Parts: sequence; structure tokens; C-alpha cells
Amino acid sequence: MDKANANANAKGETVNELLKAQAHVWNHIFSFINSMSLKCAVDLGIPDIIHNHGKPMTVSELVAALPTLNPTKARNIYRLMRILLHSGFFEQQKLSQEDGYVLTDASRLLLKDNPFGITPLLKVMLDPILTKPWDFLGPWLQNNDSTPFDTAHGKPLWDYACHVPKLGHLFNEGMASDARLIINVLIDKCKGSFEGLDSLVDVGGGTGTVGKAIAHAFPHLNCTVLDLPHVVAGLKDSGNLKYVGGDMFEDVLVADAVLLKSILHDWNDDECVKILKRCKEAISERDKGVVIKKKVMIVDMVVMEKKKVNDESFNLMETQLFFDMLMMVLQTGRERREEEWAKLFFAAGFTNYKITPILGLRSLIELFP
Ligand SMILES: C[S@@+](CC[C@H](N)C(=O)[O-])C[C@H]1O[C@@H](n2cnc3c(N)ncnc32)[C@H](O)[C@@H]1O
Repeated sequence: MDKANANANAKGETVNELLKAQAHVWNHIFSFINSMSLKCAVDLGIPDIIHNHGKPMTVSELVAALPTLNPTKARNIYRLMRILLHSGFFEQQKLSQEDGYVLTDASRLLLKDNPFGITPLLKVMLDPILTKPWDFLGPWLQNNDSTPFDTAHGKPLWDYACHVPKLGHLFNEGMASDARLIINVLIDKCKGSFEGLDSLVDVGGGTGTVGKAIAHAFPHLNCTVLDLPHVVAGLKDSGNLKYVGGDMFEDVLVADAVLLKSILHDWNDDECVKILKRCKEAISERDKGVVIKKKVMIVDMVVMEKKKVNDESFNLMETQLFFDMLMMVLQTGRERREEEWAKLFFAAGFTNYKITPILGLRSLIELFP
């Protein structure tokens, strides 16, 4: 190769690298379009419409089934569906004349009647009340507020949810939808973890989705849901399930086991150690003269080790990092690696822990005094 050719090649490679870099930046500038397109499809009820159709649905059938659609906008439905096909929410199947849309596993999770559906989580996370604080991430890094949420709305998330019923309601519904799936898997795969327990308190248990499922699956176990007074106000005790309004930083009720699902990732290290100390007191105060495995059960993420991430787990790791940023923006908390968890456990006085990674992105972590 002569010198001129070699130069041209080198330049070509540089240009290709530049264009590749530009494409990478563009992809990230516009990543929010994935979320917003999905939200739009859910707002229009598209997953349910396709599901109720009962067979692959052509774009013209879909348009006809959207009664509130302005006819002059009908052609845009094809474009909306095209990006959602690309992102794996729908697939196309051959019909005699043209292709028809069908659901995928992911869009089945967005159906209204799916008992494990997570549409309420999508609705709260993409509500402008929760997306607005992202605009304040930079300013927050330079001010004294506790969170970007605080900078955007003038108070921390839990105070705001107490004063703005719309957010409180959306939030509780979103968490309940997540809880339904995860508690089923937990009871199914970790039944043994509940054996030998007579009582359990679900700290920060929201409106009781997890509590109800545990009380139902283990009828001999007395289950208490502890949450802020306005969250549990009006919820009725039934059978082996009761609700208590309180503050997990002040007092956690005495029980054989304490459950903390999606709680500790909301709080910073000092706050977590305080909560864990209260939990340790709660499981230490009882002596029935028989040996039972008293414990704290945590359901939260253990962030993957970077060196263990392969092509298959790349997206899982990215989702864990999304959650970590989410905790930075909405709360004072974070997602933690195993050694970061261990530090908290030992600081709170626990001597032993066991991680069971069977909940997808999350794990069950059991702490023993
Ligand atoms: C992220 S949600 C988790 C709800 C539930 N554990 C679940 O996973 O579905 C956090 C919960 O903690 C509750 N919470 C916040 N501060 C609290 C406090 N100081 N004492 C008790 N509960 C609190 C909130 O009201 C909310 O229900």
C-alpha cells in the first residue's frame, strides 16, 4: 500500500469512528423516546386492544379500534408501533394480506387484567411529578437540598406524597403492582425462609400487597404491615393480617422476622444503619425458650460486579444502574454492591448474612443477629 492510500485509509477509519461516536451520542440523547413511546401506547390502551382482538391485528384494525384517535393522525400509529416493535414490545405475524401485531412477554406485563401487570409502576415513574426532578440533577449537585426531588418540588418525596394525594395514590399503586409479582416468586422459591416463624412485620409495607400474600400463604403466621399513618389509614385488619401506622426510624414492632422490601435502597448509609438497628431490636426482644431463626429479610438489588458482566447481563446491569440514579434523584438512597451491603449489616450489629439471587434484578438477603 502506498503512502497516499494508507493516509486515506487512516482518515477513513477516523471518519467512521467519528460517525460511530455520533450515533452513540444520538442514541443516548434520544433514549427517553423509548420510555415516552411506551407510555403513549399504554395511555391509548394498545396492549389491551391487541390482546382483546384475539388474533394478529393489522394496523388498520388497530386504528379502527382507537375510538378517540383524530382521523388525521391515523398514519402515526404505524410509526408508534414501528419503534415499539423494534424495542421488543410487539411482534408481527403474517396474515394472508398483510402482517398483524401480536404481544410479547413484555407487553403482556402491561395488560390491565394481568395479575402481575406493572402498568401502575410505569404510570407513576413516567408521571411528570417524578420526571421533573431529572431536570434538577445538575443544580442539586451544587446546592444543599437532600434530593433533586426536593429541589424540584420543595419537599422530600414522602412529605410530598402525604400532601399530594394524586402522587400518594399513584405511588402506592405502582409499588403494589411490583410487589404482586415479586412476592409470588419469593413465596414460591423461598418458602423455607418463612418456616418456623410465628410473626413477621413488613416494614414500609405500603398498602399491604406483600403482607396479604404472606398472611394468605402462611395462615399460622401473624403478619403486620407497618407504614406511615396516612398510608395505612382506613385499611382494615383481617384474620392474621393487621396494619399499624408508625415510623420505622422510631419503633419497629417486635416479631420473629422483619421484612424490608424496596426500603433500604431509598435511604443513605446512616439512615439504613438506624433502620437496621431498630429491626435488630425488634427481633431480639422475644425469647420463647425455643430456638427459631429470627431474622431480617431484605428484598433489594445487589449491584453486579462489573467484571462479571457479559453480553447477556449487560442490560440487567444497566437497569440496576438506572435504579441507582433513580434513588439519587428521588431519594437519599442508592443501589449497593455486596461489600457495601455487608458494611451496613455489620455496622448495625448483625453477624451473618445470606444472599439468595433468585428475584431477577433483585435478591433476597437474610440477616441473622
Ligand atoms: C418504595 S416503597 C416500598 C413499599 C413496599 N415495601 C413494596 O415494596 O411494595 C417505601 C415505603 O416506605 C414507606 N415509608 C417511608 N418512610 C417511612 C417511615 N419513616 N416509616 C415507615 N414507613 C415509611 C412509604 O410510605 C412507602 O410505602
